[in-house]
Amino acid sequence: MYVCICRAVTDRDVAKAIDAGAETVQEVTRACRAGGDCGACRGQIEEMIAERSPCEGLRLVQLPVRVRAA
Ligand code: FES
Repeated sequence: MYVCICRAVTDRDVAKAIDAGAETVQEVTRACRAGGDCGACRGQIEEMIAERSPCEGLRLVQLPVRVRAA
């Protein structure tokens, strides 16, 4: 599937760039040119970076707090 229509870059190309170490949209653009024109795809690139980050799957969990009566 094309992520960046302007530069004809697919989701596989973007994923490859991220897996190779691109951590920002600018770095993805440098690696595979996605996002280097109109910018309409930059949000999707950001989502892909977040999804593929090593911390994905880790979520903050709010634990219940017990309050003791004085
Ligand atoms: S769709 Fe990616 S720069 Fe335009």
